[in-house]
Amino acid sequence: MTDNTYPRLFQPFSAGRLQLPNRLVVLPHGTGMVHDGNITDDDIAYYEARARSKPAMIITGAIITHRSSSLKSHALVEAYEPRVLDMLQKRSDAIHAHGVKLLGQIVHLGREMLGGETEFPPAAPSPIRSPRDPFPPHELTQREIATLVQSFGDTAANLKRSGHDGVEIHGAHGYLVAQFLSPATNQRSDAYGGTPEKRLRFLMEVIDAIRTRCGDDFILGLRLSGDEEIADGLGIQDTAHIARGLAALGAVDYLSITVGTRGSYVKDITTPEAPAARAAQIIREASGLPVIAGQRINTPEMGERLLAEGAADLIGMARAFITDPDWIAKAARGAADRIRPCIGLNQDCRSFSPHLHCAVNPTAGRERLPAFGASRPTASPRRIAVIGGGPGGLEVARVAALRGHRVTLFEARHSIGGQFLYASSVPHRQGLRRFIDHQQGELRHLRVQLELGVCIKEPTQLAGRFDVAVLATGAVAKPLPAEYAAERVMSWFDVLENGVPAPAANSHALMVDDGSAFWWTYGVAEALIEGGWQVTIVTPSTAIAASIPHESVGPLLSRLGRAGTNYRVLTTLYEVASDGAHLINVTNGEEEVVDSGLVVVQTGRRAVTTLADKFQDASVEFHTIGDCVTPRRMSHAVFEAHRLAGTL
Ligand SMILES: Cc1cc2nc3c(=O)[nH]c(=O)nc-3n(C[C@H](O)[C@H](O)[C@H](O)COP(=O)(O)O)c2cc1C
Ligand code: SF4
Repeated sequence: MTDNTYPRLFQPFSAGRLQLPNRLVVLPHGTGMVHDGNITDDDIAYYEARARSKPAMIITGAIITHRSSSLKSHALVEAYEPRVLDMLQKRSDAIHAHGVKLLGQIVHLGREMLGGETEFPPAAPSPIRSPRDPFPPHELTQREIATLVQSFGDTAANLKRSGHDGVEIHGAHGYLVAQFLSPATNQRSDAYGGTPEKRLRFLMEVIDAIRTRCGDDFILGLRLSGDEEIADGLGIQDTAHIARGLAALGAVDYLSITVGTRGSYVKDITTPEAPAARAAQIIREASGLPVIAGQRINTPEMGERLLAEGAADLIGMARAFITDPDWIAKAARGAADRIRPCIGLNQDCRSFSPHLHCAVNPTAGRERLPAFGASRPTASPRRIAVIGGGPGGLEVARVAALRGHRVTLFEARHSIGGQFLYASSVPHRQGLRRFIDHQQGELRHLRVQLELGVCIKEPTQLAGRFDVAVLATGAVAKPLPAEYAAERVMSWFDVLENGVPAPAANSHALMVDDGSAFWWTYGVAEALIEGGWQVTIVTPSTAIAASIPHESVGPLLSRLGRAGTNYRVLTTLYEVASDGAHLINVTNGEEEVVDSGLVVVQTGRRAVTTLADKFQDASVEFHTIGDCVTPRRMSHAVFEAHRLAGTL
């Protein structure tokens, strides 16, 4: 049932072969739930959960067209192999059962061999090494090009045989088709390079091969990077030129537009919303082709606005559907506030260890595991006390209440969120707050009783009132070690709690990492910069921001770079004396004395176990989750909370 809050999102769309009941498209995202080049039942369950909410169309994650693009892990779908077609058919049937159209995205990675993870030599139009991979690619011969063109046609035909309604050619993000299109990667002087028209030739041959093999009733889409955002790469006007040419030939049914290339196309929380909207609009107007706009569109309001402004015909999302498979059903009934928001950290969906997970939705990638069936009602409702209102406590309260337990959440402070609020207080990360706000709303809907400003210090405070206690008391920052104590020295947490001190006459600050190399250090560094300090980051690691997902490192380094940040890697702080901070190179022991107006030290965190220790002797059933077991990331706390609540 659709309530009409978002009339454009739920308006049918009709253009040639594209006959769609609404404007919402699941953008391609590989799940990694692939074994030996074949999808698994877990992958099917994942996609089916997204189909239930009835998007107009699901475009599956990348399917490779030729064995020369296979990974050593065989974690990408190898649909050039007939042996995988039965499982693909099973997935098509599962998705079609919900009335949803299914397209397979087909790709050859070319020179982007994901860190050399290949059994075949990387190959590309020109032998230019990818900045992300160690080896230069082999320059494709015309004979090899003909083989690869044919592989696109063969793979598309296999997808048609296994029930797909169409394919999307992956011509974006710096993979093989884009390598031919882009002057940054195509320096050929034969029929496939030299001018924009010649660079288009490979794509046109691929389109011809697919049409020849799959016929006229097969949907054929194309993904393009509206702006590659690399030196000498395709800009918006170049892509608009390509789109105009394709439209004139009636070559494709739609274009899917994002910006960026490999390493930068899954924009993180620090990117403003809908960064591809402008490119999509220009390309749509230039070509007249149906356009899907994607990237950091998270809310129905934003989707509705982009349709109203004419930026797109269709709204594409990937992470929003990872986070909440029921996004569409909730938007359709006008309940946008019930949508679980993506927080854009890319920590769990993009690390593929070993497959897709989600920081705020532990069910993603675990659709077939019984403990994650959150809506499974309990047969014996219990009275549950949750102590601690951070991400873990909120999640255990939510899932337990959803299952029918009677839940009370105690939080010593007068607001919920715990230490996560500090994480959302640093520059560019305020959006994290949305998750806490959402959880609070869910607890309200589920009638969880909130006892704010109530500090549970003894198990006896709960005696007789509850059957189970869940302790989610979190962690605190470790104090500054005595050897660093000096007037100009603070812990990272002092900065978060008390604010950035005003810059001294010497406005140079050292931010000393402890090797954890995570946002707790780099977020504070950004806060110092915003507060007017000139920062040098000191780290014992070999790399900067080594624990931050790679798609966030690029934007972070740009921001730090623009602020003139300096670095000392393989370096620790020895002491702070009257002549300055004494730094030691950890590989050779060399000492450097740096005169700075402020030293901020990453001291790490320790678990708050006081209450858990007291519960050891209490007679009530109790459990501990998250940082109070040992401090980690927010997603660990949410996962443990969800898993526990599924078993209570
Ligand atoms: C886990 C994951 C896997 C992805 N795999 C693919 C892929 O196979 N092909 C592709 O073109 N884009 C892929 N993407 C990019 C998405 O299609 C999308 O462009 C990107 O996530 C930005 O949209 P969003 O902000 O709605 O997530 C992937 C994204 C994620 C998060
Ligand atoms: S892991 Fe984070 S970025 Fe990825 S979908 Fe989940 S909330 Fe969004």
